Amino acid sequence: MTKYAFITGANKGIGYEMVRQLAESNFQVFLGARNEELGKKAVKSLGLSNVEFIPVDVTNSESIQNASSKVLTFTGHLDLLINNAGVSLDHHTTPSELMLETLRQEFDVNFFGAFQMIQAFLPLVKKAQGGKIINVTTDMASQTMFDNGETAPINALGYNSSKTAMNALTLAFGKEFGHHGPEIFGVTPGFTTTDLNGNAPGGHTTAESAKIILKYALGSQNYNGKLLNQSGIIPW
Ligand SMILES: NC(=O)c1ccc[n+]([C@@H]2O[C@H](COP(=O)([O-])OP(=O)(O)OC[C@H]3O[C@@H](n4cnc5c(N)ncnc54)[C@H](OP(=O)(O)O)[C@@H]3O)[C@@H](O)[C@H]2O)c1
Repeated sequence: MTKYAFITGANKGIGYEMVRQLAESNFQVFLGARNEELGKKAVKSLGLSNVEFIPVDVTNSESIQNASSKVLTFTGHLDLLINNAGVSLDHHTTPSELMLETLRQEFDVNFFGAFQMIQAFLPLVKKAQGGKIINVTTDMASQTMFDNGETAPINALGYNSSKTAMNALTLAFGKEFGHHGPEIFGVTPGFTTTDLNGNAPGGHTTAESAKIILKYALGSQNYNGKLLNQSGIIPW
């Protein structure tokens, strides 16, 4: 049976590379992007016949519903939903200087966006044999690792806490799903040089990070309700 994957925020960065790697693994891939022109351009640049552009702005409920209706015209099941769309708007801002509006914008994409995507696509993921939902997160959202100084010392309250809230989604939906599937887990690819961090040097390439996430997406071990990095399970 054909395997289908949907990746949000996939017109560039890590999402774009995950589309490429999944399409090369014979998945039929839906490349989600909020900007129609950029989404279509991304599909064209990949040059792969098994990639389809689907417009989706994860902060817009109607856009998410339209995206799920469009996916339904291709397939009745979804093997992989990857909530990759993300924003980081306060990398260089202290908590005391963070604007409420900025904090809201980060939660809108990183938390409410992922929440709505999960609810909208869950029926399709449940129809797949071994369907998985993957939330792309960061180790800076692990309260334990951040507190212990085991992450980059970036005290970005908006970015970090919106991803911590996303991690709470992973745990809550994971408890609901139990051992019978579908499976939901979070993966951090680790520091990656992308537009998200102004292309700061020294990070993984997008291809390396896509591979880290897809190792778990395509693996047979069940990680329901867990947070993972390159080496395995990490604490909350
Ligand atoms: N880079 C890192 O070091 C790192 C580390 C850990 C985790 N991550 C996570 O990895 C994921 C991918 O990030 P990246 O580094 O590849 O960054 P990126 O190149 O900036 O890509 C982010 C993507 O999210 C999209 N996006 C933003 N808001 C959206 C919305 N409302 N609806 C739909 N799409 C939206 C962007 O679209 P536009 O092009 O239209 O803005 C873009 O396609 C993020 O969740 C990020 O938090 C990154």
